[in-house]
Amino acid sequence: MTPTDLPDDLLAPEAVADPAAVAAVLREHDPVHWSPTHRSWLLTRYDDIVAAFRNPALSSDRVRPVLARREGRGPSAEHRVLSLISDWMVVSDPPAHTRLRRLAGGAFKQQQIAAMGERIQALVDELVDAFLTTGPGDLVAGVAYPLPATVIAEMLGAPRADRDRFREWSDELALVAFGTGGEARADRHARALRGLEEMAAYFRDLVADRRRDPAGDMLSAMIAGESTGPGDEEGLTDDELVGMCALLLFAGHETTTNAIANAVRLLTADPALRDRVAADPDLVAPAVEEALRLQGPIKVLVRWVVADHDLRGRTIRAGERVQLVLPGANRDPERFRDPDVLDLHRERNQHLAFGRGIHACIGAQLARLETRHAVGTVLRRLPGLRVTAEPDWIPTLASRAAGSLPVTFDAAPVGGRR
Ligand code: HEM
Repeated sequence: MTPTDLPDDLLAPEAVADPAAVAAVLREHDPVHWSPTHRSWLLTRYDDIVAAFRNPALSSDRVRPVLARREGRGPSAEHRVLSLISDWMVVSDPPAHTRLRRLAGGAFKQQQIAAMGERIQALVDELVDAFLTTGPGDLVAGVAYPLPATVIAEMLGAPRADRDRFREWSDELALVAFGTGGEARADRHARALRGLEEMAAYFRDLVADRRRDPAGDMLSAMIAGESTGPGDEEGLTDDELVGMCALLLFAGHETTTNAIANAVRLLTADPALRDRVAADPDLVAPAVEEALRLQGPIKVLVRWVVADHDLRGRTIRAGERVQLVLPGANRDPERFRDPDVLDLHRERNQHLAFGRGIHACIGAQLARLETRHAVGTVLRRLPGLRVTAEPDWIPTLASRAAGSLPVTFDAAPVGGRR
């Protein structure tokens, strides 16, 4: 196959259905592939993607260039949304990124994520109790979707009554971040803007409240970070604090929902595997790692090229875009033996579902904890759990997400709450 014959439209129905298969063809035939469809380079090999995470020629500061290109086209909802998110740390480079990451990292440490297991288990049990009373249904709506928003809202210190609003805002943001780029959702920037502005106003009030009256939550820790940081380091401004809250909600919600749903789908596809993991709590963590590797919630990460460089004989030029296709890396046979097999005893499972390098997921420990508690609990409390419909994969570039997970299970739940 020549590079021009290769299937490289990651939004084509067959790629949406099975992104790993399309990535495998690219990885084998043209691992540094120029895609006219995406007007980007597609990288699919593990080693190349690991190197890309560390390559200063590839910038994460990718919203500002888009804004700059649109300058002069007059005010629009899209412009306003992009301006609001352009300072988020995930789209910043050092030194701005270093400072934001340090302040957020300190607050994460203070939250002592490892100690949150009991609280997360209680939330999962509450959701599963409610799911059991309504009978078989959609496990995304019942468990995978509400859990992460509730955890983040609680961690940030938002009152319980406001949690449903968190979910709405994060959905609206996802319209932009995971957008298909098609005209179908022409109103998505307007909706995202509405969500962002409402959320910003909400967090602004919460910040003011915590400045007056600090508590043990993460927002208070981020505010306190200003006075405990090294002398020459400035703390977060109100705008930055608001942006950080929005980023944490946005980055930690959809991703974790999809991690839970994708793991349940994979593990229940094989009843013997499902029953093994349900019966042995020690197998839940390795099962979740394999699910993250095989069916991670993030398919593609984008970088902006800021310096010409060569890779495998191709010249990648400043001003171009590079897409890191994670399903390619996470099933690279050069890195993982029997890459398509879910192996509960895989050693050194250093998959890239959480990225690498300076932007590696800051919430990975929390995401793992939530996913393990959720997956372990539903397998244990819903015996014989099985998915009753083909996945309705949502056609987005960035995320591996199904809209729903209709399930059924054997009548009498065993064990109950732990
Ligand atoms: C299974 C669930 C999750 C997955 C698969 C995931 C994946 C990722 C990945 C791949 C990145 C790197 C982005 C890049 O290099 O451009 C990232 C960054 C990030 N994640 Fe997560 N994430 C998850 C859950 C969470 C949670 C629960 C939170 C917080 C509550 C969170 C907060 C963040 C933040 C703030 C960043 C930006 C870090 C930086 O720029 O330095 N994530 N995540």
